[in-house]
Amino acid sequence: MNILITGGAGFIGSHVVRRFVNTHREYNIYNLDALTYAGNLENLRDIEDAPNYHFIKGDIVDEGFIKGLFEKHRFDGVVHLAAESHVDRSITDPLAFVRTNIIGTVNLLNAARDLWKDQTADKRFYHVSTDEVYGSLGAEGLFTETTSYDPNSPYSASKASSDHFVRAYGETYGLPYVISNCSNNYGPNHFPEKLVPLFINNIIENKPLPVYGDGKYTRDWLFVEDHAVAIDLVFHKGKNHETYNIGGFNEWQNIDLVKLLCKLMDQKLGRDAGTSEKLITYVKDRPGHDLRYAIDAGKISKELGWRPSVTFEQGLERTIDWYLSNEEWLNHVTSGDYQEYYDKMYAQ
Ligand code: NAD
Ligand code: TYD
Repeated sequence: MNILITGGAGFIGSHVVRRFVNTHREYNIYNLDALTYAGNLENLRDIEDAPNYHFIKGDIVDEGFIKGLFEKHRFDGVVHLAAESHVDRSITDPLAFVRTNIIGTVNLLNAARDLWKDQTADKRFYHVSTDEVYGSLGAEGLFTETTSYDPNSPYSASKASSDHFVRAYGETYGLPYVISNCSNNYGPNHFPEKLVPLFINNIIENKPLPVYGDGKYTRDWLFVEDHAVAIDLVFHKGKNHETYNIGGFNEWQNIDLVKLLCKLMDQKLGRDAGTSEKLITYVKDRPGHDLRYAIDAGKISKELGWRPSVTFEQGLERTIDWYLSNEEWLNHVTSGDYQEYYDKMYAQ
């Protein structure tokens, strides 16, 4: 089986690639990634020499290239994670999100449809999406698989659009697909622009911790390795043409999460209790900021037997330990030097 994983040099993608390469040795895993600012091959150093792993640098927006790639490698399955993924960037440059998240996804769908035609037995297009497509919850309630789409940011609108295209290809062309919509991930290899890694980095560097608005926004947090396990399960056992919500059963208001992070970081860094909390700075709110996300992960739990394996404290501790012992990774990412790694590794 030739399996294409897109966006495998990114945060979640690198954990998915590692899991597939290590646990499905019978597959040839092709990691296709454009290596944007968020893609970093240093995330995959430990498996880059595995015989069943292949890296391809390329852009999913390039229609001809994608078509040729599918014809050349005749993929049996696709796990599609490549995306522009940061809400704040989507507010300043929505078109980048339209290009990669919508046009890029449709290019992949066309290539899979044209390759597989009506020979779809044992073929699967897995689209990895986000709970943000459902919009914002009030104080009560949970997102289920049947919650109406109601995206509020250019990022979530582009992901919602791509979800709809995947569904439409299933209905119109009979493309075999599954979709999952997951809550906020945290863990090792997370680019320090998102809340958790940004704040870990700022605490290390004694920089202000910019909390948007009143800090009362709520997210459900899932350790990234647990998401990778769920993706493996949905890819292999999920029902055709179905959606699975994935979440951590773990809701936190931003300000409480930040205070917990400060407490754990003070302990790890040997600083006096309360030191890092002094860095908290309330800043201007994000426009269109969704108040609350919370996932009902009952379907994947009941049907596929999946549950998160670590508690939030355990996951956060592992995350902090990883950042503290991977100073070089953090330095390369924050200085942009990680891009040189690619040039060195893949220089002709
Ligand atoms: P990320 O930004 O860390 O990684 C995205 C990867 O895609 C990068 O390696 C980047 O180089 C690559 N990429 C971007 N544009 C590309 C293009 N045009 N062609 C090829 N590769 C391209 O993102 P992430 O946080 O790992 O998210 C991965 C997927 O999971 C996304 O689809 C995202 O919507 C979804 N998701 C993320 C979260 C989360 O909390 N991070 C939660 C639920 C769902
Ligand atoms: P983020 O990690 O960007 O994920 P998302 O917007 O996809 O949920 O943000 C998580 C929460 O943290 C969100 O409510 C916005 C907030 N936030 C801050 O308060 N300050 C920051 O610097 C960032 C990046 C996010």
